[in-house]
Amino acid sequence: MKSSILTFTASLLFSLAAANPGHGHGQPTFQQRCAHLAQTFHPDHKTQVLVAQFVPSGTNFTNPDNHPTCQSKPFTITLTDMCRLRLKVKTSHTSEVELEAWMPLDWNKKRYLVLGNGGLGGCIAYPDMGFTTWLGFATIAHNNGHLGDTAEPMLNNPGVVEDYVWRAVKTATQAGKKAVKHFYNTAIRKSYYMGCSSGGRQGLKAAQDFPEEFDGIVAGAPANDINNLWSISGHYYKLNGNPGDARYLSAAQWVAMRNEILRQCDGLDGVTDGVIEEPRTCKPRFEALMCGAGQTWASHQCLTATQVDTVRRLYEPYYGTDGKLLYPEFDPGAEVNSDVWGGEPPGAAEWWKYAIFNDPNWDFHTQFSLQMAMDMKNLDPYGISTWKPLAKLKQKGRKLLTYHGLQDGVINSGNSYRYYEYVSRTMGLTSTELDSFYRYFPIPGQSHCHSGAGNWYVGATSQVGRVLGAKNIPTEGGVLMSMVKWVEEGIAPETITGRNMNSQTGVQSSIKEHCKWPKKNKYLGGNPNLKESWGCTNP
Ligand SMILES: *[C@@H]1O[C@H](CO)[C@@H](O)[C@H](O)[C@H]1NC(C)=O
Repeated sequence: MKSSILTFTASLLFSLAAANPGHGHGQPTFQQRCAHLAQTFHPDHKTQVLVAQFVPSGTNFTNPDNHPTCQSKPFTITLTDMCRLRLKVKTSHTSEVELEAWMPLDWNKKRYLVLGNGGLGGCIAYPDMGFTTWLGFATIAHNNGHLGDTAEPMLNNPGVVEDYVWRAVKTATQAGKKAVKHFYNTAIRKSYYMGCSSGGRQGLKAAQDFPEEFDGIVAGAPANDINNLWSISGHYYKLNGNPGDARYLSAAQWVAMRNEILRQCDGLDGVTDGVIEEPRTCKPRFEALMCGAGQTWASHQCLTATQVDTVRRLYEPYYGTDGKLLYPEFDPGAEVNSDVWGGEPPGAAEWWKYAIFNDPNWDFHTQFSLQMAMDMKNLDPYGISTWKPLAKLKQKGRKLLTYHGLQDGVINSGNSYRYYEYVSRTMGLTSTELDSFYRYFPIPGQSHCHSGAGNWYVGATSQVGRVLGAKNIPTEGGVLMSMVKWVEEGIAPETITGRNMNSQTGVQSSIKEHCKWPKKNKYLGGNPNLKESWGCTNP
Protein backbone atom coordinates (compact mmCIF):
# COMPACT_ATOMS: atom_id res chain seq x y z
CA MET A 1 0.00 0.00 0.00
CA LYS A 2 2.68 2.45 1.07
CA SER A 3 4.77 2.04 -2.08
CA SER A 4 1.77 2.49 -4.33
CA ILE A 5 0.90 5.78 -2.59
CA LEU A 6 4.46 6.94 -3.21
CA THR A 7 4.18 5.96 -6.88
CA PHE A 8 0.90 7.78 -7.13
CA THR A 9 2.26 10.93 -5.48
CA ALA A 10 5.32 10.96 -7.70
CA SER A 11 3.25 10.52 -10.82
CA LEU A 12 0.81 13.22 -9.72
CA LEU A 13 3.68 15.68 -9.30
CA PHE A 14 5.02 14.71 -12.70
CA SER A 15 1.61 15.12 -14.26
CA LEU A 16 1.03 18.56 -12.75
CA ALA A 17 4.46 19.69 -13.85
CA ALA A 18 3.70 18.49 -17.37
CA ALA A 19 0.28 20.08 -17.47
CA ASN A 20 -0.11 22.84 -20.01
CA PRO A 21 -1.09 26.00 -18.14
CA GLY A 22 -2.34 27.71 -21.30
CA HIS A 23 -5.72 25.99 -21.34
CA GLY A 24 -7.23 27.19 -18.10
CA HIS A 25 -10.80 28.45 -18.51
CA GLY A 26 -12.10 27.17 -15.21
CA GLN A 27 -12.65 23.73 -16.80
CA PRO A 28 -9.88 21.32 -15.93
CA THR A 29 -7.67 20.62 -18.91
CA PHE A 30 -7.06 17.15 -20.37
CA GLN A 31 -3.79 17.09 -18.47
CA GLN A 32 -5.42 18.03 -15.19
CA ARG A 33 -8.25 15.56 -15.55
CA CYS A 34 -5.67 12.89 -16.27
CA ALA A 35 -3.60 13.72 -13.22
CA HIS A 36 -6.72 13.75 -11.05
CA LEU A 37 -7.77 10.26 -12.07
CA ALA A 38 -6.02 8.87 -9.02
CA GLN A 39 -8.53 10.79 -6.89
CA THR A 40 -11.59 10.61 -9.09
CA PHE A 41 -11.55 7.03 -10.38
CA HIS A 42 -12.67 4.52 -7.77
CA PRO A 43 -14.83 1.97 -9.59
CA ASP A 44 -14.79 -0.70 -6.86
CA HIS A 45 -12.80 -2.09 -3.94
CA LYS A 46 -10.87 -4.48 -6.20
CA THR A 47 -9.36 -1.75 -8.35
CA GLN A 48 -6.42 0.45 -7.42
CA VAL A 49 -4.90 3.32 -9.41
CA LEU A 50 -1.10 2.91 -9.59
CA VAL A 51 -0.22 5.70 -12.04
CA ALA A 52 -2.13 8.55 -13.63
CA GLN A 53 -0.01 10.82 -15.77
CA PHE A 54 -0.20 13.00 -18.85
CA VAL A 55 2.37 11.84 -21.44
CA PRO A 56 3.07 14.27 -24.27
CA SER A 57 3.71 13.17 -27.82
CA GLY A 58 7.38 12.40 -28.45
CA THR A 59 8.07 11.08 -24.96
CA ASN A 60 10.71 8.37 -24.77
CA PHE A 61 8.71 5.93 -22.68
CA THR A 62 11.15 3.41 -21.21
CA ASN A 63 8.71 0.67 -20.21
CA PRO A 64 9.46 1.10 -16.50
CA ASP A 65 7.49 -1.84 -15.19
CA ASN A 66 8.32 -4.45 -17.79
CA HIS A 67 10.03 -7.56 -16.49
CA PRO A 68 13.53 -8.46 -17.84
CA THR A 69 12.09 -11.53 -19.60
CA CYS A 70 9.90 -9.30 -21.75
CA GLN A 71 11.57 -9.34 -25.14
CA SER A 72 9.85 -6.25 -26.34
CA LYS A 73 11.76 -3.16 -27.43
CA PRO A 74 13.22 -1.43 -24.35
CA PHE A 75 11.51 1.87 -25.12
CA THR A 76 8.59 3.34 -27.01
CA ILE A 77 8.47 6.85 -28.46
CA THR A 78 4.91 8.05 -27.98
CA LEU A 79 3.25 9.51 -31.05
CA THR A 80 0.36 11.42 -29.53
CA ASP A 81 -0.57 13.41 -26.42
CA MET A 82 -2.28 11.01 -24.08
CA CYS A 83 -3.30 10.14 -20.56
CA ARG A 84 -1.62 7.06 -19.13
CA LEU A 85 -3.45 5.21 -16.39
CA ARG A 86 -2.09 2.09 -14.71
CA LEU A 87 -4.45 0.00 -12.63
CA LYS A 88 -4.23 -3.08 -10.51
CA VAL A 89 -7.34 -5.23 -10.22
CA LYS A 90 -7.69 -8.22 -7.93
CA THR A 91 -8.89 -11.34 -9.75
CA SER A 92 -8.93 -13.77 -6.80
CA HIS A 93 -7.55 -13.80 -3.27
CA THR A 94 -4.15 -14.88 -4.65
CA SER A 95 -4.01 -13.08 -7.99
CA GLU A 96 -4.35 -9.74 -9.71
CA VAL A 97 -3.93 -8.18 -13.12
CA GLU A 98 -2.12 -4.93 -13.90
CA LEU A 99 -3.30 -3.00 -16.91
CA GLU A 100 -2.55 0.25 -18.64
CA ALA A 101 -4.97 2.50 -20.44
CA TRP A 102 -3.40 4.88 -22.95
CA MET A 103 -6.06 7.44 -23.76
CA PRO A 104 -5.31 9.82 -26.62
CA LEU A 105 -6.15 13.53 -26.53
CA ASP A 106 -8.01 13.15 -29.82
CA TRP A 107 -10.71 10.53 -29.27
CA ASN A 108 -13.30 11.66 -31.83
CA LYS A 109 -14.08 8.16 -33.09
CA LYS A 110 -14.60 6.83 -29.54
CA ARG A 111 -12.94 3.51 -30.32
CA TYR A 112 -11.77 1.18 -27.57
CA LEU A 113 -9.10 -1.48 -28.13
CA VAL A 114 -7.68 -4.23 -25.96
CA LEU A 115 -4.29 -5.75 -26.89
CA GLY A 116 -3.15 -9.27 -26.07
CA ASN A 117 0.05 -10.85 -24.79
CA GLY A 118 2.64 -13.22 -26.21
CA GLY A 119 4.25 -16.45 -25.03
CA LEU A 120 3.73 -17.07 -21.35
CA GLY A 121 2.04 -13.68 -21.00
CA GLY A 122 3.10 -11.14 -18.43
CA CYS A 123 4.41 -8.40 -20.74
CA ILE A 124 2.49 -5.23 -21.44
CA ALA A 125 2.57 -4.52 -25.17
CA TYR A 126 3.87 -0.96 -24.89
CA PRO A 127 5.15 -0.55 -28.47
CA ASP A 128 1.80 -1.71 -29.84
CA MET A 129 0.05 0.67 -27.48
CA GLY A 130 2.07 3.53 -28.93
CA PHE A 131 0.95 2.57 -32.42
CA THR A 132 -2.75 2.06 -31.73
CA THR A 133 -3.03 5.13 -29.49
CA TRP A 134 -1.57 7.11 -32.38
CA LEU A 135 -4.35 5.58 -34.52
CA GLY A 136 -6.85 7.09 -32.09
CA PHE A 137 -7.91 4.03 -30.10
CA ALA A 138 -8.15 4.32 -26.34
CA THR A 139 -5.90 1.31 -25.87
CA ILE A 140 -5.69 -1.20 -23.03
CA ALA A 141 -2.85 -3.66 -22.53
CA HIS A 142 -2.23 -5.78 -19.48
CA ASN A 143 0.21 -8.17 -17.85
CA ASN A 144 -2.10 -11.18 -18.12
CA GLY A 145 -2.06 -11.74 -14.38
CA HIS A 146 1.68 -11.93 -13.74
CA LEU A 147 4.86 -10.07 -14.52
CA GLY A 148 7.23 -11.43 -17.16
CA ASP A 149 7.32 -13.92 -20.01
CA THR A 150 7.64 -16.77 -17.57
CA ALA A 151 5.37 -19.25 -15.81
CA GLU A 152 7.25 -19.01 -12.50
CA PRO A 153 4.49 -17.02 -10.75
CA MET A 154 2.09 -19.90 -11.50
CA LEU A 155 3.93 -22.18 -9.07
CA ASN A 156 1.34 -23.39 -6.54
CA ASN A 157 -0.96 -20.55 -7.54
CA PRO A 158 -3.91 -21.72 -9.63
CA GLY A 159 -5.32 -18.19 -9.53
CA VAL A 160 -2.44 -17.01 -11.72
CA VAL A 161 -2.99 -19.94 -14.09
CA GLU A 162 -6.67 -19.11 -14.43
CA ASP A 163 -5.80 -15.47 -15.13
CA TYR A 164 -3.44 -16.58 -17.89
CA VAL A 165 -6.08 -18.81 -19.45
CA TRP A 166 -8.95 -16.30 -19.65
CA ARG A 167 -9.63 -14.15 -16.58
CA ALA A 168 -6.97 -11.45 -16.96
CA VAL A 169 -8.11 -10.40 -20.42
CA LYS A 170 -11.74 -10.27 -19.39
CA THR A 171 -10.99 -8.39 -16.17
CA ALA A 172 -8.69 -5.92 -17.93
CA THR A 173 -11.27 -5.37 -20.66
CA GLN A 174 -14.01 -4.55 -18.20
CA ALA A 175 -11.83 -2.40 -15.92
CA GLY A 176 -10.45 -0.56 -18.94
CA LYS A 177 -13.94 0.21 -20.20
CA LYS A 178 -14.88 1.76 -16.87
CA ALA A 179 -11.72 3.85 -16.87
CA VAL A 180 -12.17 5.09 -20.44
CA LYS A 181 -15.82 5.98 -19.91
CA HIS A 182 -14.94 7.77 -16.69
CA PHE A 183 -12.02 9.70 -18.16
CA TYR A 184 -13.76 10.93 -21.32
CA ASN A 185 -17.14 11.10 -19.55
CA THR A 186 -18.80 9.61 -22.61
CA ALA A 187 -19.75 6.19 -23.93
CA ILE A 188 -17.45 3.98 -25.96
CA ARG A 189 -18.83 3.70 -29.51
CA LYS A 190 -17.06 0.51 -30.66
CA SER A 191 -14.88 -2.00 -28.87
CA TYR A 192 -12.10 -4.05 -30.48
CA TYR A 193 -9.56 -6.70 -29.57
CA MET A 194 -6.28 -7.44 -31.33
CA GLY A 195 -3.57 -9.93 -30.43
CA CYS A 196 -1.17 -12.46 -31.95
CA SER A 197 0.18 -15.83 -30.77
CA SER A 198 -0.90 -16.14 -27.12
CA GLY A 199 -2.76 -12.93 -27.86
CA GLY A 200 -4.47 -14.71 -30.75
CA ARG A 201 -5.57 -17.42 -28.36
CA GLN A 202 -6.89 -14.79 -25.94
CA GLY A 203 -8.88 -13.32 -28.83
CA LEU A 204 -10.41 -16.70 -29.62
CA LYS A 205 -11.18 -17.18 -25.94
CA ALA A 206 -13.15 -13.93 -26.02
CA ALA A 207 -14.82 -14.94 -29.30
CA GLN A 208 -15.90 -18.26 -27.78
CA ASP A 209 -16.82 -17.26 -24.24
CA PHE A 210 -17.35 -13.49 -23.88
CA PRO A 211 -17.88 -12.03 -27.36
CA GLU A 212 -20.27 -9.41 -25.94
CA GLU A 213 -17.19 -7.44 -24.80
CA PHE A 214 -16.07 -6.70 -28.38
CA ASP A 215 -17.63 -5.62 -31.65
CA GLY A 216 -14.64 -6.99 -33.55
CA ILE A 217 -11.85 -9.40 -32.62
CA VAL A 218 -8.59 -9.74 -34.59
CA ALA A 219 -6.68 -12.91 -33.70
CA GLY A 220 -3.30 -13.58 -35.37
CA ALA A 221 -1.44 -16.91 -35.36
CA PRO A 222 -3.62 -18.06 -32.48
CA ALA A 223 -2.02 -20.43 -29.98
CA ASN A 224 -5.24 -22.32 -29.39
CA ASP A 225 -5.04 -26.05 -28.83
CA ILE A 226 -2.06 -24.93 -26.79
CA ASN A 227 -1.76 -28.17 -24.80
CA ASN A 228 -0.93 -29.99 -28.00
CA LEU A 229 1.21 -27.10 -29.26
CA TRP A 230 3.39 -27.42 -26.18
CA SER A 231 3.48 -31.18 -26.61
CA ILE A 232 4.54 -31.00 -30.24
CA SER A 233 7.34 -28.63 -29.26
CA GLY A 234 8.46 -31.27 -26.76
CA HIS A 235 8.17 -33.90 -29.48
CA TYR A 236 10.30 -31.78 -31.84
CA TYR A 237 12.96 -31.37 -29.20
CA LYS A 238 13.06 -35.10 -28.57
CA LEU A 239 13.44 -35.77 -32.29
CA ASN A 240 16.04 -33.10 -32.92
CA GLY A 241 18.09 -33.61 -29.76
CA ASN A 242 21.05 -31.46 -28.74
CA PRO A 243 24.25 -30.34 -30.46
CA GLY A 244 26.52 -33.36 -30.78
CA ASP A 245 23.68 -35.88 -31.14
CA ALA A 246 23.83 -37.87 -34.37
CA ARG A 247 20.34 -36.79 -35.32
CA TYR A 248 20.85 -33.07 -34.57
CA LEU A 249 20.98 -30.43 -37.33
CA SER A 250 22.91 -27.22 -36.79
CA ALA A 251 21.50 -23.83 -37.73
CA ALA A 252 23.62 -23.84 -40.91
CA GLN A 253 22.27 -27.29 -41.80
CA TRP A 254 18.73 -26.03 -41.36
CA VAL A 255 19.50 -23.16 -43.72
CA ALA A 256 20.71 -25.72 -46.26
CA MET A 257 17.57 -27.77 -45.77
CA ARG A 258 15.39 -24.68 -46.12
CA ASN A 259 17.19 -23.79 -49.36
CA GLU A 260 16.65 -27.31 -50.67
CA ILE A 261 12.94 -27.15 -49.78
CA LEU A 262 12.64 -23.82 -51.58
CA ARG A 263 14.50 -25.26 -54.58
CA GLN A 264 11.87 -27.98 -54.81
CA CYS A 265 8.75 -25.98 -53.90
CA ASP A 266 9.23 -22.23 -54.38
CA GLY A 267 8.26 -22.41 -58.05
CA LEU A 268 5.01 -24.35 -57.44
CA ASP A 269 3.12 -21.05 -57.37
CA GLY A 270 4.73 -19.74 -60.56
CA VAL A 271 7.12 -17.30 -58.86
CA THR A 272 10.55 -17.94 -57.41
CA ASP A 273 10.56 -15.37 -54.61
CA GLY A 274 11.44 -17.26 -51.41
CA VAL A 275 7.74 -17.67 -50.61
CA ILE A 276 5.76 -20.91 -51.00
CA GLU A 277 2.22 -19.55 -51.39
CA GLU A 278 0.67 -22.77 -50.14
CA PRO A 279 3.16 -24.74 -48.03
CA ARG A 280 0.63 -27.52 -47.53
CA THR A 281 1.04 -28.49 -51.19
CA CYS A 282 4.83 -28.75 -50.81
CA LYS A 283 5.93 -32.35 -50.23
CA PRO A 284 9.71 -32.14 -50.44
CA ARG A 285 12.04 -35.06 -50.98
CA PHE A 286 14.40 -34.45 -48.05
CA GLU A 287 16.65 -37.30 -49.20
CA ALA A 288 17.85 -34.98 -51.97
CA LEU A 289 20.23 -33.51 -49.39
CA MET A 290 21.63 -36.87 -48.20
CA CYS A 291 25.37 -37.52 -48.50
CA GLY A 292 26.66 -40.11 -50.96
CA ALA A 293 29.54 -42.45 -50.21
CA GLY A 294 32.54 -40.59 -48.84
CA GLN A 295 30.68 -37.25 -48.62
CA THR A 296 30.27 -35.16 -45.46
CA TRP A 297 28.69 -31.88 -44.41
CA ALA A 298 32.17 -30.33 -44.43
CA SER A 299 32.98 -31.58 -47.92
CA HIS A 300 29.58 -31.43 -49.65
CA GLN A 301 27.07 -29.62 -47.38
CA CYS A 302 25.05 -32.83 -47.23
CA LEU A 303 23.30 -34.59 -44.32
CA THR A 304 23.61 -38.08 -42.88
CA ALA A 305 20.79 -40.57 -43.33
CA THR A 306 20.04 -40.20 -39.59
CA GLN A 307 19.68 -36.44 -39.95
CA VAL A 308 17.42 -36.82 -42.98
CA ASP A 309 15.28 -39.16 -40.90
CA THR A 310 14.99 -36.43 -38.23
CA VAL A 311 13.87 -33.96 -40.84
CA ARG A 312 11.29 -36.24 -42.40
CA ARG A 313 9.70 -36.99 -39.04
CA LEU A 314 9.58 -33.33 -38.09
CA TYR A 315 7.32 -32.61 -41.09
CA GLU A 316 4.83 -35.31 -40.20
CA PRO A 317 1.66 -34.53 -38.26
CA TYR A 318 1.74 -35.47 -34.58
CA TYR A 319 -0.61 -38.29 -33.61
CA GLY A 320 -1.81 -39.46 -30.19
CA THR A 321 -1.75 -42.96 -28.73
CA ASP A 322 -5.32 -43.33 -30.05
CA GLY A 323 -4.14 -42.63 -33.60
CA LYS A 324 -5.96 -39.27 -33.70
CA LEU A 325 -4.27 -36.05 -34.73
CA LEU A 326 -2.80 -34.06 -31.87
CA TYR A 327 -1.29 -31.26 -33.93
CA PRO A 328 -0.69 -30.52 -37.61
CA GLU A 329 2.70 -30.63 -39.29
CA PHE A 330 5.45 -28.04 -39.63
CA ASP A 331 5.18 -25.71 -42.66
CA PRO A 332 7.90 -26.33 -45.26
CA GLY A 333 9.69 -23.02 -45.83
CA ALA A 334 9.39 -21.86 -42.20
CA GLU A 335 12.61 -23.52 -41.01
CA VAL A 336 15.00 -20.70 -40.47
CA ASN A 337 12.58 -18.57 -38.46
CA SER A 338 11.77 -21.41 -36.14
CA ASP A 339 12.63 -21.57 -32.47
CA VAL A 340 11.64 -25.23 -32.21
CA TRP A 341 14.95 -26.72 -33.27
CA GLY A 342 17.32 -25.62 -30.53
CA GLY A 343 17.21 -26.83 -26.94
CA GLU A 344 14.45 -27.55 -24.47
CA PRO A 345 11.32 -25.63 -25.51
CA PRO A 346 11.17 -22.92 -22.84
CA GLY A 347 7.45 -22.16 -23.00
CA ALA A 348 6.36 -25.77 -22.72
CA ALA A 349 8.93 -26.72 -20.09
CA GLU A 350 8.00 -23.79 -17.83
CA TRP A 351 4.30 -24.45 -18.25
CA TRP A 352 4.69 -28.04 -17.18
CA LYS A 353 7.04 -27.22 -14.30
CA TYR A 354 5.12 -24.34 -12.77
CA ALA A 355 1.51 -24.49 -13.92
CA ILE A 356 0.99 -28.26 -14.12
CA PHE A 357 3.35 -30.25 -11.91
CA ASN A 358 4.26 -27.50 -9.42
CA ASP A 359 7.83 -28.76 -9.41
CA PRO A 360 10.68 -26.52 -10.60
CA ASN A 361 12.90 -29.62 -10.82
CA TRP A 362 10.55 -31.48 -13.12
CA ASP A 363 12.78 -33.10 -15.72
CA PHE A 364 11.82 -32.87 -19.34
CA HIS A 365 14.04 -35.71 -20.51
CA THR A 366 12.72 -38.38 -18.19
CA GLN A 367 9.12 -37.17 -17.97
CA PHE A 368 7.95 -36.03 -21.38
CA SER A 369 6.32 -38.74 -23.50
CA LEU A 370 3.43 -39.24 -25.88
CA GLN A 371 1.37 -40.54 -22.97
CA MET A 372 2.06 -37.31 -21.13
CA ALA A 373 0.87 -35.37 -24.18
CA MET A 374 -2.39 -37.33 -24.02
CA ASP A 375 -2.72 -36.55 -20.30
CA MET A 376 -2.13 -32.84 -20.92
CA LYS A 377 -4.74 -32.78 -23.65
CA ASN A 378 -7.27 -34.32 -21.29
CA LEU A 379 -6.31 -32.12 -18.33
CA ASP A 380 -6.86 -28.88 -20.29
CA PRO A 381 -6.73 -26.58 -17.23
CA TYR A 382 -9.53 -23.97 -17.20
CA GLY A 383 -10.21 -24.73 -20.86
CA ILE A 384 -6.87 -23.35 -22.08
CA SER A 385 -7.23 -25.35 -25.33
CA THR A 386 -9.64 -22.60 -26.46
CA TRP A 387 -11.21 -24.98 -28.95
CA LYS A 388 -14.94 -24.43 -29.14
CA PRO A 389 -17.32 -23.40 -31.90
CA LEU A 390 -18.44 -19.78 -32.20
CA ALA A 391 -22.14 -20.03 -31.39
CA LYS A 392 -22.11 -17.12 -28.95
CA LEU A 393 -20.18 -14.86 -31.31
CA LYS A 394 -22.68 -15.52 -34.09
CA GLN A 395 -25.65 -15.09 -31.79
CA LYS A 396 -24.36 -11.74 -30.47
CA GLY A 397 -23.65 -10.48 -33.98
CA ARG A 398 -19.95 -9.86 -33.25
CA LYS A 399 -17.09 -10.42 -35.69
CA LEU A 400 -13.85 -12.39 -35.79
CA LEU A 401 -10.95 -12.04 -38.21
CA THR A 402 -8.08 -14.49 -37.95
CA TYR A 403 -4.83 -14.54 -39.91
CA HIS A 404 -1.82 -16.84 -39.83
CA GLY A 405 1.61 -16.51 -41.43
CA LEU A 406 2.48 -19.48 -43.60
CA GLN A 407 6.18 -19.14 -42.72
CA ASP A 408 5.38 -19.42 -39.03
CA GLY A 409 8.07 -21.56 -37.41
CA VAL A 410 6.54 -21.25 -33.93
CA ILE A 411 2.87 -22.15 -34.43
CA ASN A 412 2.20 -24.39 -37.43
CA SER A 413 -0.33 -22.70 -39.69
CA GLY A 414 -2.27 -25.95 -40.13
CA ASN A 415 -3.77 -25.15 -36.74
CA SER A 416 -5.66 -22.13 -38.07
CA TYR A 417 -7.04 -24.02 -41.08
CA ARG A 418 -8.03 -26.86 -38.79
CA TYR A 419 -9.87 -24.52 -36.40
CA TYR A 420 -11.74 -22.85 -39.25
CA GLU A 421 -12.90 -26.19 -40.65
CA TYR A 422 -13.81 -27.41 -37.16
CA VAL A 423 -16.05 -24.37 -36.64
CA SER A 424 -17.57 -24.91 -40.08
CA ARG A 425 -18.38 -28.57 -39.42
CA THR A 426 -19.55 -28.26 -35.82
CA MET A 427 -21.82 -25.30 -36.61
CA GLY A 428 -22.90 -26.81 -39.92
CA LEU A 429 -22.06 -23.57 -41.77
CA THR A 430 -20.46 -23.25 -45.21
CA SER A 431 -17.64 -20.78 -45.67
CA THR A 432 -20.12 -18.37 -47.31
CA GLU A 433 -22.28 -18.61 -44.22
CA LEU A 434 -19.32 -18.18 -41.89
CA ASP A 435 -18.40 -15.01 -43.80
CA SER A 436 -21.00 -13.00 -41.92
CA PHE A 437 -19.06 -13.30 -38.66
CA TYR A 438 -15.77 -15.22 -39.16
CA ARG A 439 -13.13 -14.72 -41.84
CA TYR A 440 -9.69 -16.36 -42.03
CA PHE A 441 -6.76 -15.00 -44.04
CA PRO A 442 -3.64 -17.13 -44.55
CA ILE A 443 -0.62 -14.83 -45.04
CA PRO A 444 2.05 -16.48 -47.23
CA GLY A 445 5.56 -15.24 -46.46
CA GLN A 446 4.74 -14.05 -42.93
CA SER A 447 6.71 -15.54 -40.05
CA HIS A 448 5.38 -15.74 -36.51
CA CYS A 449 3.23 -12.59 -36.16
CA HIS A 450 5.76 -10.33 -37.89
CA SER A 451 8.59 -10.28 -40.44
CA GLY A 452 9.16 -12.83 -43.21
CA ALA A 453 10.18 -13.17 -46.84
CA GLY A 454 6.78 -12.19 -48.25
CA ASN A 455 4.14 -9.49 -47.78
CA TRP A 456 4.09 -9.96 -44.03
CA TYR A 457 3.09 -6.50 -42.87
CA VAL A 458 -0.69 -6.42 -42.38
CA GLY A 459 -1.08 -3.51 -39.92
CA ALA A 460 -1.22 -5.86 -36.97
CA THR A 461 -0.05 -6.19 -33.41
CA SER A 462 3.74 -6.59 -32.90
CA GLN A 463 4.43 -5.31 -36.43
CA VAL A 464 4.54 -1.52 -36.39
CA GLY A 465 5.40 -0.93 -32.77
CA ARG A 466 7.88 -3.72 -32.26
CA VAL A 467 9.49 -4.14 -35.64
CA LEU A 468 9.03 -1.05 -37.73
CA GLY A 469 8.88 1.43 -34.85
CA ALA A 470 7.78 4.37 -36.95
CA LYS A 471 4.65 6.33 -37.74
CA ASN A 472 3.11 7.18 -41.10
CA ILE A 473 3.08 3.51 -42.02
CA PRO A 474 -0.02 2.48 -43.99
CA THR A 475 -2.74 0.78 -42.00
CA GLU A 476 -5.57 0.88 -44.58
CA GLY A 477 -6.48 -2.62 -45.74
CA GLY A 478 -4.61 -4.23 -42.82
CA VAL A 479 -6.29 -6.50 -40.31
CA LEU A 480 -7.18 -3.91 -37.68
CA MET A 481 -8.55 -1.20 -39.97
CA SER A 482 -10.34 -3.82 -42.09
CA MET A 483 -12.11 -4.96 -38.95
CA VAL A 484 -13.03 -1.36 -38.14
CA LYS A 485 -14.51 -0.95 -41.63
CA TRP A 486 -16.43 -4.21 -41.27
CA VAL A 487 -17.86 -3.20 -37.87
CA GLU A 488 -18.52 0.48 -38.53
CA GLU A 489 -19.42 0.54 -42.23
CA GLY A 490 -20.58 -3.01 -42.79
CA ILE A 491 -17.91 -3.52 -45.48
CA ALA A 492 -16.38 -6.93 -44.84
CA PRO A 493 -12.84 -7.64 -46.08
CA GLU A 494 -12.46 -9.90 -49.11
CA THR A 495 -8.68 -9.56 -48.98
CA ILE A 496 -6.07 -8.22 -46.56
CA THR A 497 -3.38 -5.92 -47.88
CA GLY A 498 0.08 -7.27 -47.19
CA ARG A 499 3.34 -5.45 -47.70
CA ASN A 500 6.95 -6.43 -47.49
CA MET A 501 8.59 -3.79 -45.33
CA ASN A 502 12.25 -3.66 -44.47
CA SER A 503 12.37 -3.85 -40.70
CA GLN A 504 15.43 -1.57 -40.52
CA THR A 505 14.40 1.15 -42.96
CA GLY A 506 10.62 0.74 -43.16
CA VAL A 507 10.94 0.85 -46.97
CA GLN A 508 8.22 -1.08 -48.78
CA SER A 509 9.40 -3.39 -51.55
CA SER A 510 6.18 -5.17 -52.55
CA ILE A 511 2.44 -5.23 -51.97
CA LYS A 512 -0.21 -7.91 -52.40
CA GLU A 513 -3.82 -8.60 -51.54
CA HIS A 514 -4.00 -11.81 -49.48
CA CYS A 515 -7.09 -13.89 -50.26
CA LYS A 516 -9.72 -15.05 -47.82
CA TRP A 517 -9.77 -18.78 -47.18
CA PRO A 518 -10.89 -21.04 -48.89
CA LYS A 519 -9.75 -18.87 -51.81
CA LYS A 520 -5.99 -18.89 -52.39
CA ASN A 521 -3.50 -16.40 -53.79
CA LYS A 522 -2.86 -16.94 -57.48
CA TYR A 523 -0.07 -15.47 -59.57
CA LEU A 524 -1.46 -13.99 -62.78
CA GLY A 525 1.82 -12.91 -64.39
CA GLY A 526 3.90 -9.74 -64.45
CA ASN A 527 6.02 -8.14 -61.73
CA PRO A 528 5.33 -10.24 -58.61
CA ASN A 529 6.00 -7.23 -56.37
CA LEU A 530 2.85 -5.50 -57.63
CA LYS A 531 -0.60 -6.41 -56.42
CA GLU A 532 -2.00 -6.33 -59.96
CA SER A 533 0.06 -9.45 -60.69
CA TRP A 534 -1.97 -11.52 -58.23
CA GLY A 535 -5.57 -12.65 -57.86
CA CYS A 536 -7.60 -15.16 -55.88
CA THR A 537 -8.57 -18.65 -57.00
CA ASN A 538 -12.14 -19.79 -56.75
CA PRO A 539 -12.45 -22.24 -53.88
C1 LIG B 1 15.12 6.25 -25.01
O1 LIG B 1 15.70 5.99 -23.74
C2 LIG B 1 16.50 4.82 -23.69
C3 LIG B 1 16.90 4.58 -22.25
O2 LIG B 1 17.42 5.73 -21.67
C4 LIG B 1 17.69 4.98 -24.62
O3 LIG B 1 18.47 3.81 -24.60
C5 LIG B 1 17.17 5.23 -26.02
O4 LIG B 1 18.24 5.47 -26.92
C6 LIG B 1 16.22 6.42 -26.04
N1 LIG B 1 15.65 6.52 -27.39
C7 LIG B 1 15.62 7.64 -28.08
C8 LIG B 1 15.08 7.56 -29.48
O5 LIG B 1 15.99 8.70 -27.63
